[in-house]
Amino acid sequence: MCGIVGYIGYRDATAVVLEGLQRLEYRGYDSAGLAVLDSTGTLQIRREAGRLQRLVRLLEQAPARGTVAIGHTRWATHGPPSRRNAHPHASPDGRLVVVQNGIVENFAELRAWLQARGYTFASDTDTEVIVHLIHYYFHGGGLNGGGLDGGGEALETAVRAALSRLQGPSAVAVLSRDHPDRLLAARLGHAGGVVVGWGEEEMYLASDIPALLGCTRRVQFLENRQMAILTRNGASIRTLEGRPVDRPVVQVNWDPAAAEKGEYPHFMLKEIFEQGQSIAATLAQRLDFGSGLVELPSLHLSPERARRLRKVTIVACGTSYYAGLVGRHLLERLARIPTEVDYASEYRYREPLIGPEEMVLAITQSGETVDTLAALEEARARGAFTAAIVNVVGSQADRMCHGAIHMHAGPEIGVASTKAFTASLVDLVLLGLYLGQARQTLAESEQAALVQDLARLPGLVGEVLEEAQASGRYAELARDYGGFANFLYLGRGLQYPVAREGALKLKEISYIHAEGYPAGEMKHGPIALIDGHMPTVALAPRDGVYEKMVSQIEQVKARGGAVLAVVHHQDRQLAARVDRALPIPQAHPLLTPVLSVIPLQLFAYHVAVGRGLDVDRPRNLAKSVTVE
Ligand code: G6P
Repeated sequence: MCGIVGYIGYRDATAVVLEGLQRLEYRGYDSAGLAVLDSTGTLQIRREAGRLQRLVRLLEQAPARGTVAIGHTRWATHGPPSRRNAHPHASPDGRLVVVQNGIVENFAELRAWLQARGYTFASDTDTEVIVHLIHYYFHGGGLNGGGLDGGGEALETAVRAALSRLQGPSAVAVLSRDHPDRLLAARLGHAGGVVVGWGEEEMYLASDIPALLGCTRRVQFLENRQMAILTRNGASIRTLEGRPVDRPVVQVNWDPAAAEKGEYPHFMLKEIFEQGQSIAATLAQRLDFGSGLVELPSLHLSPERARRLRKVTIVACGTSYYAGLVGRHLLERLARIPTEVDYASEYRYREPLIGPEEMVLAITQSGETVDTLAALEEARARGAFTAAIVNVVGSQADRMCHGAIHMHAGPEIGVASTKAFTASLVDLVLLGLYLGQARQTLAESEQAALVQDLARLPGLVGEVLEEAQASGRYAELARDYGGFANFLYLGRGLQYPVAREGALKLKEISYIHAEGYPAGEMKHGPIALIDGHMPTVALAPRDGVYEKMVSQIEQVKARGGAVLAVVHHQDRQLAARVDRALPIPQAHPLLTPVLSVIPLQLFAYHVAVGRGLDVDRPRNLAKSVTVE
């Protein structure tokens, strides 16, 4: 959730860290801070509540310069967003600073333990116990102790001792004026990524790759219980027990420009408009459009094993969970495999039953969502074949699974997920085809029709977006409907998860209450809510449940509710019956969710913009949820 950045080199570390924090702001943005070691060897700390821009202004008034620094952008867990709770937190003598992402679950106990030894606390955070603990061990027993001998080793030893006392996931970065030539970072559990970036006589540290893209694309990822010791000339990685480990330096193939907004006012809009391109990238090299054959080499699932699969359980959170609900239809239809979908946060605690020949499939854009990782761990421990549909190559989910299918969507920065949703739907279609081919459950004609429309899909997405742009429809719609306080989203079959995703988009960025509901269930409750103050967004492409959707639309209208409906653009009849029609082109029904979600993304975006809200940084949310 929080974002961590570190730099050690020869350039202005404050500028480098600020730039990194700016790129990581999607991870948390309620306060920010940095510590830089100045030329006198003093740790200069600057912290500010609110957006990063306020820290930038503070630094203009009170500059801090040096060539080593760590910084942090916060998503509050313990203690409200304020300057005193912003990171970095310092030891009592100001010689040591720490930034953290994660939660110290036993912080109350550690706090009392430290207080009994004379430590006082200047914040409400759990992080402060970490810096005091490191100080305690560094000084061989607290405030009155001496120092540990052994140069930089002493700091490492103290950090190790301190971390061994923590319960819960944590990623930390540590800077000490006693060891100005090094930066330390460590990862405990699933606390979000710790990425070490390699430059020339300069090294970087970040929670996520986009923070580093402007500086380097050569990176190393820390695993659970590993510590990196960075100097200007490189990094060595050890386990928390002190054993050296060899982590590969990998080349990230994301284009640095992909992490910039370019001509778009918001990342979210840019990412909505990138969907044609990202879907084309998702399909490339996996699907032979001529033969229809799908290859998924990184899934590491042989056709023989695919044939033996008895069940798939999809685990995911947020938007990825809704992609999973679509995935259930796809896998059951194409590969005839019973498929279950569960929230990762529920799955991990329900003692799941896993039989032989079962696949647990995570869907995760970031590959770092704590509950999804824990669910995968649980599944693996119980003997499942684990796989991830994941965007960030090299992320924890990517590394810990038996196999992976990458989204190839490029960096997604907007907190509200858009292009990762459609890319995961396409990956799920590819998986359905791959399994269907291995299990021979696909009729040739069905496969041919699907493959034909997959080839057209990037173009069809382009059509929806072009029409949206040319008509100015969504800004106008937002003007007319953005003032309502409640919305109902209805869909059936494959469109039901899209309804939920559409409602989530509206909630996330415009703070309007919206419920996504299976249209058939409307009469069992939500219909009581319908009146002239509650518009309904209905997903009504011409598919197997079209007639039923039309009657449900009529039932809403009969009760005075306005209806905005996603319809095929040839469907003039229904378009004329509803208050507003949101047109999409016709495609294979299994691919229609990829198209029908786009009007809902655009609607949510324009409503939020119309309300003057910060689309890319919605309140209380963070892009990667790395704490429970
Ligand atoms: C957060 C984000 C959502 C995302 C969800 C799952 O809630 O704000 O956009 O869908 O996490 O993230 P993942 O990276 O696992 O797909």
